[in-house]
Amino acid sequence: MSLQTLTGMKDLFSPEVEAWQVVEKLAHEHFALFGYKEIRTPLLEVTELFSRGIGEETGVVQKEMYTFADRDGQSITLRPEGTASVIRSFIENHFHQNDPITKLYYMGPMFRHERPQKGRLRQFHQIGCELIGSASPLADVENISLLDSFIKKTGITDYTLHLNSLGCLKEDCRPRYLAKLKEELIAHKEKLCADCQKRLETNPLRVLDCKKESCKNVVENLPTIEKFLCSDCHTHHQAVTEGLSNLSIAFTPAPRLVRGLDYYDRTAFEITSPHLGSQSAFAGGGRYSGLVKNLGGPDASGVGFAIGLERLLLLCADKVKPSTPVSVYLACLGKKALTEGLVLAKKCREDGIAVEMDYEEKSFKAMLRRANKMKFRFACLLGDSEIEKKTVQLKDMEKQTQEEIKMDQLLTFLKSYVTN
Ligand code: HAM
Repeated sequence: MSLQTLTGMKDLFSPEVEAWQVVEKLAHEHFALFGYKEIRTPLLEVTELFSRGIGEETGVVQKEMYTFADRDGQSITLRPEGTASVIRSFIENHFHQNDPITKLYYMGPMFRHERPQKGRLRQFHQIGCELIGSASPLADVENISLLDSFIKKTGITDYTLHLNSLGCLKEDCRPRYLAKLKEELIAHKEKLCADCQKRLETNPLRVLDCKKESCKNVVENLPTIEKFLCSDCHTHHQAVTEGLSNLSIAFTPAPRLVRGLDYYDRTAFEITSPHLGSQSAFAGGGRYSGLVKNLGGPDASGVGFAIGLERLLLLCADKVKPSTPVSVYLACLGKKALTEGLVLAKKCREDGIAVEMDYEEKSFKAMLRRANKMKFRFACLLGDSEIEKKTVQLKDMEKQTQEEIKMDQLLTFLKSYVTN
């Protein structure tokens, strides 16, 4: 029996992968404009990093992580997201000692054991940014603006930024809201799913995130957090909304947005598209004031986001244009031509011209058929007489014309012909 990829995991190959490369290149260039440096962390981390960082009560930690004991019996986990790993590295490498502000971005695979569907995989990819070391609302604004302008660069125009504040842990802020929430939820306990009946005690905010219809109906009528924010959180949120308006970034207030991870406080946001079906969020993020300290680091607040690449690509694959280098198909007739052809191919490639050729002896007809199938605009025919004259027959596959040109003019001709 032939072997296949695991459920919810996909091979990525041409032509799809070219659009991914364009988006990744765009991200490298765009994030550099904001002073972000790339970080590459391991795919595997000790399980505690995520259970402590993301929160024991979250769906991700309770149900979705790929966790197993390695050969030494240590519990390790394939990263379900990037933020916890970045913060672990920030602490481990004392980044805050170099500069009070650390700006890092990452891209790569994440793993969550979810039920696969359109836009939801078990191995998926994120591009994320984390700004660590500033509690200012301006940092939130800049981070969101970076995301917003990146999305625009991919050609996506139809999307919504949902914005909320989750308050802070001070008694007169989120805890006050949670107490009210609990009170209301207890009154509707029998209408909640079994998970939410437990969450009601352990983490009532999570109930707002439940996707079950019965819970959604209850949530609709619950009070929202905005009226419970302490004055500092209120001021922070106002500064964020004003900052976004100053940059002409449109947003929709989303007072019930809580996000699926527990480390957030104050700003929380998500970007959705109407073209993605039920998995409509293609990016999300927010501020985390306690995470760094909670993982053993200094008292540094951070803000960041991650984009789901599969979902982004569903929206922009037809909008991004991979640049194709000038290319030529080298059709060499006979053994001698094949040997000479490799020399010519080497020169072309050194000059940035892509060359495709055959390695076995074939007829011109067979080689041109392949060149045609591979959609080459130009083919170069090389046989014994051309080698003797130091020429090639240059065939324009589109115009169906052919002319003999000197070998040393070939590069100049091809380079003057820029395809994009
Ligand atoms: P998240 O909302 O869990 O946030 O994930 C960010 C994005 O990853 C989602 O909006 C979605 O597009 C994509 N995503 C999540 N799960 C899947 C899946 N199973 N299949 C396909 N795509 C998926 C975070 O991960 C936070 N670390 C973001 C962040 C960074 N917050 C602060 N800094």
